[in-house]
Amino acid sequence: MAYQNIEVRTEAGKVGVVTLNRPKQLNALSNDLMDELGVALKAFDADDAIGCIILTGSEKAFAAGADIGAMASYSFADVYKGDYITRNWETIRSIRKPVIAAVSGFALGGGCELAMTCDFIIAADNARFGQPEIKLGIIPGAGGTQRLPRAVGKSKAMDMTLTARMMDAAEAERAGLVSRVVALDKLMDEALGAALTICDYSRISVLAAKESINRSFETGLSDGVMFERRLFHATFATEDQKEGMDAFVNKRKPQFRHR
Ligand code: CAA
Repeated sequence: MAYQNIEVRTEAGKVGVVTLNRPKQLNALSNDLMDELGVALKAFDADDAIGCIILTGSEKAFAAGADIGAMASYSFADVYKGDYITRNWETIRSIRKPVIAAVSGFALGGGCELAMTCDFIIAADNARFGQPEIKLGIIPGAGGTQRLPRAVGKSKAMDMTLTARMMDAAEAERAGLVSRVVALDKLMDEALGAALTICDYSRISVLAAKESINRSFETGLSDGVMFERRLFHATFATEDQKEGMDAFVNKRKPQFRHR
């Protein structure tokens, strides 16, 4: 597929990189962009050579939110009948391989929500996060009121959503919204390093760990722990478990074969 709003490449033959590419609109997330993103993510997810995916933007903006120019004329009937957001923004939730958000510049509104839907966020020191929808007479609509409080707690989530103030990278790291902050010129190296590390582990363990952590957001503790226990038990059926433990016992590097 020829993409108009994103760029897609592979690094080291095993990391899929998707770069949001609407620079004039600070990567505002249009319907077409979200369609393309869904196609690209699904293609990487289905590609056996790919072990991890990085989603990134430009230095100035990861994404400045949903496309306000397009939304301005939408009516309730348009968004409800057209299943706005649900129709194509949530494809990322079905991606089983890890998706790392490498965020520099603005991650606002839908941009912050998209980053939070990724599995973890590595931020450049110029990153700024916010849910400024209230300034537009709307509220966050791509999961911000649900994922932000889970990430940073109620008080900061309320503060950011009700006042529309932005959080800088240092505050985002303190609050647990991002996992690491690095200098802007090191952002892609850092994200790629993390992705390559993940690629070298057993794909089965990686998928299972992601699935189990995501389950923690949907279930109570006892059921969540039982879900984890069953997956943990299942890993003992893999060749990779034998390889990983044999390699440790014999003081050598494991060679996982993802089976
Ligand atoms: N949609 C469409 N266009 C956008 C945009 C957006 N979300 N954000 C920025 N742009 C456009 C601007 O209109 C501008 O275009 P022109 O050059 O044609 O005028 C261009 O990008 C550059 O933007 P600015 O001139 O405003 O750049 P700045 O550096 O002065 O400010 C900014 C940057 C603070 C990010 C500012 O652009 C801004 O506040 N953007 C809107 C942020 C926002 O409200 N996001 C939430 C959107 S609603 C949403 O996301 C709903 C949801 O939950 C799904």
